[in-house]
Amino acid sequence: MAKDVIIACDFANADQTFSFLDRFAEEKPFVKIGMELFYAEGPQIVREIKRRGHRIFLDLKLHDIPNTVKKAMRSLSALDVDIVNLHAAGTRAMMEAALEGLTRPDGSRPLLIAVTQLTSTDQAALEKELLIEKPIDRVVMAYAENAARAGLDGVVCSPLEAGKVHACCGERFLTVTPGVRFADGEKGDQKRVTNPAEARLLGSDYIVVGRPVTQAADPVEAYRRCVKEFCG
Ligand code: C5P
Repeated sequence: MAKDVIIACDFANADQTFSFLDRFAEEKPFVKIGMELFYAEGPQIVREIKRRGHRIFLDLKLHDIPNTVKKAMRSLSALDVDIVNLHAAGTRAMMEAALEGLTRPDGSRPLLIAVTQLTSTDQAALEKELLIEKPIDRVVMAYAENAARAGLDGVVCSPLEAGKVHACCGERFLTVTPGVRFADGEKGDQKRVTNPAEARLLGSDYIVVGRPVTQAADPVEAYRRCVKEFCG
């Protein structure tokens, strides 16, 4: 499985995004576009970044009834993105419908990965608000298994969970992992962090890196450092 670094382009608008991407003269990094940018700029920003030759992880985390998600995925697959995602909490029926919607008439489709439990949800919220009484790591693994059974390609998880996810869902089941910081860098609001070299050792397939690259004095140099440490 090819390992790669995905830059989280958490920018508010197209101007900021393109002035960032314009710095990369030699490489075409894999980028993640999230809700903030997508809702501000619409599908046109996806088309433009794709036209410039980048691969795209469109991080919109769909969660609705199966029929609605199926049709939304059909719209997203027409955008020719490389990875899309949804919430595993939508159940296997929703995930299977999503795969159906995503698959083009020629059988090709973007990779589809699942969010298990958001890292902002802790054990207390799980029990008191969602009425789920199992330990959160068991919930995460059960959701990952549901995603694998539904035919999805992987999950978003912490690099610290990557080994367990592979053990439970197979080595080919992708682990796409945020929460990455340089060993000598700021943690910011991320609590459980690993550096790119550790993420590689822990078995992450893709690392998602935002601020350590986007806010660096020299983003291209920071990106290259990530690639070197993660991909070896
Ligand atoms: O700037 P930073 O490297 O923390 O960015 C990480 C990216 O990964 C952000 O876009 C964030 O929303 C996303 N993410 C995360 N933790 C999760 C899921 C997604 O940090 N559990």
